[in-house]
Amino acid sequence: MSRILTALQPSGILHIGNYFGAIEPMVRLQEEGNENILFAVDYHAITVPQDPGDLRANLYYAIATYLAAGIDPEKTILFQQSRVREHTELAWILNCIAHMGELERMTQFKDKAVGKGEAVTVGLFDYPVLMAADILLYDTEVVPVGEDQKQHLELARDLAERFNNRFGDTFIVPEPRIRTQGARIMGLDDPTKKMSKSASSERNYISLMDDEKKVIKKIKTAVTDSEGIVKADRAREGIFNLLSIYSLVTGRPASEIEVDYEGKGYGDFKKDLAGEINTFLAPIQDKITEYLDDKQQLIEILDAGAERAQALAEEKMKVVRDRIGVTL
Ligand code: ADP
Ligand code: TRP
Repeated sequence: MSRILTALQPSGILHIGNYFGAIEPMVRLQEEGNENILFAVDYHAITVPQDPGDLRANLYYAIATYLAAGIDPEKTILFQQSRVREHTELAWILNCIAHMGELERMTQFKDKAVGKGEAVTVGLFDYPVLMAADILLYDTEVVPVGEDQKQHLELARDLAERFNNRFGDTFIVPEPRIRTQGARIMGLDDPTKKMSKSASSERNYISLMDDEKKVIKKIKTAVTDSEGIVKADRAREGIFNLLSIYSLVTGRPASEIEVDYEGKGYGDFKKDLAGEINTFLAPIQDKITEYLDDKQQLIEILDAGAERAQALAEEKMKVVRDRIGVTL
């Protein structure tokens, strides 16, 4: 049994890429009987400007979605990062051993800092240290993340080792588990890039909250090619991606689906695919709406999760404070 931890930014749009790439794998790990920790990182979210009303709504939506996807708050410690103060406390301590140079090398920071000049915030710069605190606080062994987070994970490992060398064995050095390409869904309008909420057009993604009409329209206009043959051929990115989505939402292997469409054109395939996506989304949407209509229930779940997380975090911080010499 491993302690597995991951976290997600609370954002207003979650698409099927987020679902199959990040949320559903956590549900699977929970079923394997690990000790899971999952939280919405609101203090990471505010490293870029957030409207308070939107942030609050996004937090409710994120938590409702994890629950709708099958996260069981009995099996997974589910909470909101800002509710466990130890995250920011440990981040401060780690700030005092982190080097400017190593943070300056973070590619995500460099990407996000573009065009901001001197006005780039300290929070954005410090983002990876808070993430290291998130992980080290809980004696985490395994961190499932996307490829883009690998460098941040390396930093968490370096900070753990540096702290341990300086103050004695305190933190477990976490292992990344980088998700494989398989669960990567590509953009509908541009299958050479991953599906993303920050794409220039809404046609790029299927949001978990898209209604039937929208799904039909988006699939209809999804990029394919002129071959007209439904086949899982990686070189034909558009149709390959649509087949992968078909396979994910139905749980059927692509090789089997191909056979169903032998001798048929993209029209039939796309019509059925839209139908399958809608069938898949309907119960999830119903559950999300149910949770959002009962905020009291969500708050109770988050209270209980924060309490469990805090008990672990506080125990760890007692050791950390003692090691650095502030406990008298
Ligand atoms: P977005 O690009 O839509 O802003 P994020 O970068 O916020 O998505 O990613 C949130 C989580 O979802 C991450 O764990 C990321 O690896 C996963 N994810 C994002 N897009 C995809 C995708 N197209 N396919 C699979 N997983 C994805
Ligand atoms: N930075 C991660 C992302 O954008 C989110 C995150 C914050 C995280 N803290 C974490 C992921 C701790 C794993 C572990 O996807």
